[in-house]
Amino acid sequence: MVQLTRPGPIHILVIHGPNLNMLGVRDPDIYGREDFATVNRQIEAHATSLGMEVRIQQSNGEGEIIGFIQNAYGWANAIVLNAGAYTHYSYAIRDAVADSRLPTVEVHLSNVHAREEFRRHSVIAPVCTGVIAGFGPHSYLLALDAAKNLVEESHR
Ligand code: DQA
Repeated sequence: MVQLTRPGPIHILVIHGPNLNMLGVRDPDIYGREDFATVNRQIEAHATSLGMEVRIQQSNGEGEIIGFIQNAYGWANAIVLNAGAYTHYSYAIRDAVADSRLPTVEVHLSNVHAREEFRRHSVIAPVCTGVIAGFGPHSYLLALDAAKNLVEESHR
C-alpha cells in the first residue's frame, strides 16, 4: 500500500559552519547585525510554525561538521547547511553530504555571487538539492520552507 502521509513531525538538522557563531560581530555590513542566538531563535520559531523539529549545530571544524552530517542518519529527514568558507573547498564535507543521501539545502546569508571570485564556486552545491543565498538570516527560513516541501514531496 502506498503511504500518503508521513508519520510524526519532520526533523531538520541545521548546520552552521566556521565563523557563523560570530554573527552580529562579524562584518555586519555583509552578514547583518543580528547575533547568532537571535538567528537561531528565528530558525526555531519558523520550524515550529511549520510543525517541524529542528536541531541546530555549529562548528568551526571540518571534522566536527562531517560528524554532524553522519549523525543525522536515522534521525533527520533533511539538512540545511551553511558550511561557511568550507563551501568553497571541502571535498570531505561534500562527500559526507552525498553519503548521507538526505535532501540538503545549501544556505548562505550573503549573495556569494556578488562577492569575491572564490566565493562564486561551491564544491558542495552539486550534491545538494538546491542553494539559497543572499537573504541574510531569512535565507535559513527559506531553506526550512524548501526542506519541508522536499520531505513532503518525497512522501507523496
Ligand atoms: C557564507 C559565505 C562564505 O563565503 C563565507 O566564507 C562565510 C559565510 C554566508 O553565509 O554568506 O563564512 O557562507
